[in-house]
Amino acid sequence: GKMATMKSLIGLINKIQRACTVLGDHGGEGMSLWEALPTVAVVGGQSSGKSSVLESVVGRDFLPRGSGIVTRRPLVLQLHKTEEGTTEYAEFLHAPKKKFADFAAVRKEIEDETDRITGKSKQISNIPIQLSIYSPNVVNLTLIDLPGLTKVAVEGQPDSIVQDIENMVRSYVEKPNCIILAISPANQDIATSDAIKLAREVDPTGERTFGVATKLDIMDKGTDCLDVLEGRSYRLQHPWVGIVNRSQADINKRVDMIAARRKEREYFETSPEYGHLASRMGSEYLAKLLSQHLETVIRQKIPSIVALINKSIDEINAELDRIGRPIAVDSGAQLYTILELCRAFDRVFKEHLD
Ligand code: GDP
Ligand code: NA
Ligand code: MG
Repeated sequence: GKMATMKSLIGLINKIQRACTVLGDHGGEGMSLWEALPTVAVVGGQSSGKSSVLESVVGRDFLPRGSGIVTRRPLVLQLHKTEEGTTEYAEFLHAPKKKFADFAAVRKEIEDETDRITGKSKQISNIPIQLSIYSPNVVNLTLIDLPGLTKVAVEGQPDSIVQDIENMVRSYVEKPNCIILAISPANQDIATSDAIKLAREVDPTGERTFGVATKLDIMDKGTDCLDVLEGRSYRLQHPWVGIVNRSQADINKRVDMIAARRKEREYFETSPEYGHLASRMGSEYLAKLLSQHLETVIRQKIPSIVALINKSIDEINAELDRIGRPIAVDSGAQLYTILELCRAFDRVFKEHLD
């Protein structure tokens, strides 16, 4: 049916994105495939809860989290929904033959791979880490975790770091295909939220921005976030979603994801302030909202993506002619993969039209 086709389209898009990233944006005229395909990126201040929100959307513990600058390289995370009953695993692009079944090991590898490029310092790097998760328990999405926006450099960081991080984050979220999760901690003034500021700048109409208010559980007593959550303070085209992630104490006590989700659900269901909004709050709802939005965007973009893919098939064929066939070199093999994916996409699209 149509849903199944849409799922396979999203799956193909994930693969094309991955192949395009391996290859690097090979310039050229107009938009590259990578730029045409939708992604979701988290934006916000340091320790606003970006990595925690991403983990919740995925439903697995695997990201380094904590106070200070923990995320120091972009993490491009592709979720692939697999058949019910299949075993879940993760795979890094930099270690393609190694299947990770243990998500604690995934977190360790992200930390190690971050250090490999940046050293154990507080430096950052623009070079993304690419991770795929294959699981029956995820929705098909590409998510990008980014370092947090900061206002001042700390000991061991160059003064340029504030601007460097902003430039890096902007380079992801300014792309018109990027869906922005603007993460703002509710225990700080949302009027000064770096996330909302940057999102407004790159997406003035708010059509691709989702406002996410974290840390509702640790707001000052006597205050609440209703003006924001009900869209009175900062109206976006999409509804705001309130989130309660694990606290640092929960992380230290190793509270697991299932317990965390239950706690979050209970928090909203029993909340005197937010009880009436309970069905539209929390990480699971955010994941659902995102997936639905992504499908809508893909549906709207199908004609232009197909036009681009057809052009790309020609371009890739020309490139293959230039470097010669059969393909021996690595980059040739990658081009070939993209070509195959483009053909597959084309096929699925045509079936969809029939
Ligand atoms: P990031 O730096 O934006 O990626 O934020 P992290 O996800 O690493 O979280 C930073 C810190 O804030 C961690 O100690 C989290 O436990 C804590 N934190 C994040 N979200 C919440 C929340 O909703 N409630 C509470 N109490 N703590 C949170
Ligand atoms: Na942090
Ligand atoms: Mg982080």
